[in-house]
Amino acid sequence: MDGGTMEQLISLCKRRGFVYQGSEIYGGLAGTWDYGPLGVALKKNIENLWWKTFVTDREDMYGIDAAILMNPRAWAASGHADGFADPLIEDVKTRKRYRADHLLEEAGIDPKGMSATEMDKAIQGSKLKSPEGNALGEVRQFNMMFKTQVGATEDAASVTYLRPETAGGMFVNYKNVVDSFHPKLPFGMAQIGKAFRNEIAPRDFIFRVRELEQMEIEYFIRPDDWERAFEEWRVAMHAFAKNLGLSGERLHELEVAPEDRAHYSKRTIDFEFDFPFGKKELWGLAYRTDFDLSAHAKESGMDLFFFDEETKERFIPHVIEPSFGVGRTLLAVLSESYREDEMNGEKRVFLKLPSHLAPVRIAVFPLLKNRPELVAKAREVFLLLKKEFGNVLFDDNGNIGKRYRRQDEIGTPYCVTIDFDTLGEKPEHKDTVTVRDRDTGEQKRAPIAELTKYII
Ligand code: GAP
Repeated sequence: MDGGTMEQLISLCKRRGFVYQGSEIYGGLAGTWDYGPLGVALKKNIENLWWKTFVTDREDMYGIDAAILMNPRAWAASGHADGFADPLIEDVKTRKRYRADHLLEEAGIDPKGMSATEMDKAIQGSKLKSPEGNALGEVRQFNMMFKTQVGATEDAASVTYLRPETAGGMFVNYKNVVDSFHPKLPFGMAQIGKAFRNEIAPRDFIFRVRELEQMEIEYFIRPDDWERAFEEWRVAMHAFAKNLGLSGERLHELEVAPEDRAHYSKRTIDFEFDFPFGKKELWGLAYRTDFDLSAHAKESGMDLFFFDEETKERFIPHVIEPSFGVGRTLLAVLSESYREDEMNGEKRVFLKLPSHLAPVRIAVFPLLKNRPELVAKAREVFLLLKKEFGNVLFDDNGNIGKRYRRQDEIGTPYCVTIDFDTLGEKPEHKDTVTVRDRDTGEQKRAPIAELTKYII
């Protein structure tokens, strides 16, 4: 099946070393996942593509890497200390907590736009029970930020939070970047990093987790330029999706209704993706106005005005924010590339990953493991390709068919095999190898000296 079910994707991720359950040997920790060697490679390829597309290929972007722990006043200013909450309801018997909006959705009631009180009324009115069949308590707002203590004392002044979004680190560094680089508007700041949310109901594998990674941009603009900039970023996000190999058909835009937008947003588009468990938010694009910079200026007492040299105006810039979750992107890429077909009368699973994302770009095999002359030549070709491409793998384990299958399953676009013809058994094929294409299984002979031409 193209796209795969969640069970198939999770099983492949574990089997082949993409993603493991967090702290698995202790029974796991809900909402945490660990990336294995291939998962890290895929994640880094996605992040590097994002950084190249939105930072290094542009002239108007400034990358930063801010601390995860921030002065708690930043979270008071940004509204997260008061407003970053999800509606929670408790099973009165088991004391287990659930997202009230999720329970309503599952009961066929649309919770969009409902306040906590309205959700409470809807739940009580339709006599909803917990998934265990018990009575439910009252809907309460639950702040999702993880509290932590900084330093040795345990007083209120030492309490801060793990950041729930990377955005905050950019707003508090806006003045630093302006003072160091004197950019003209519009310009942006970009950051890739961890964020933490104490989700009540982490679910769907790496889709909704408690420790996540975001790739975010805060794009500073003149207030009257927001519609143009918003549209420019909308188009840029679609182009990035295409570069990730995400097909148009599975990607959708949702204009978020005013009552469902975050407290800082005047317009939000969710980029939704058809995941195997349904159409859900992949990325977000928001118009944050001057909400954050004005709030930080007020709370910190710093002058965060921008002086426009051309117009001689002083104002607080407005912000367009494209925000991308790394884990959700990786899950979408995996699902989009998952394929099952039949090759040589056998069922096979393969990942049709774009070659610039594949964790392994080329695998090099000696036809037989027990022939030193084949192994030596294969090592030579392997080292040559590794120097050129980096993510090249050597494998002499098991029969050649099994090696092909293993590479198909992790999405390796090319397998290069060194056989007796390479060594000159057929003189006309001396110093040539076979290059096998992952998607078609087709094999072509190519001279070693020209291999880089065959590999894209
Ligand atoms: N700075 C804006 C912001 O954080 P958001 O819609 O809450 O907005 C942005 O999050 C993106 O981060 C989402 O579109 C999604 O890709 C990712 N994300 C948010 N919460 C997540 C979670 N619990 N698990 C995995 N990814 C998450």
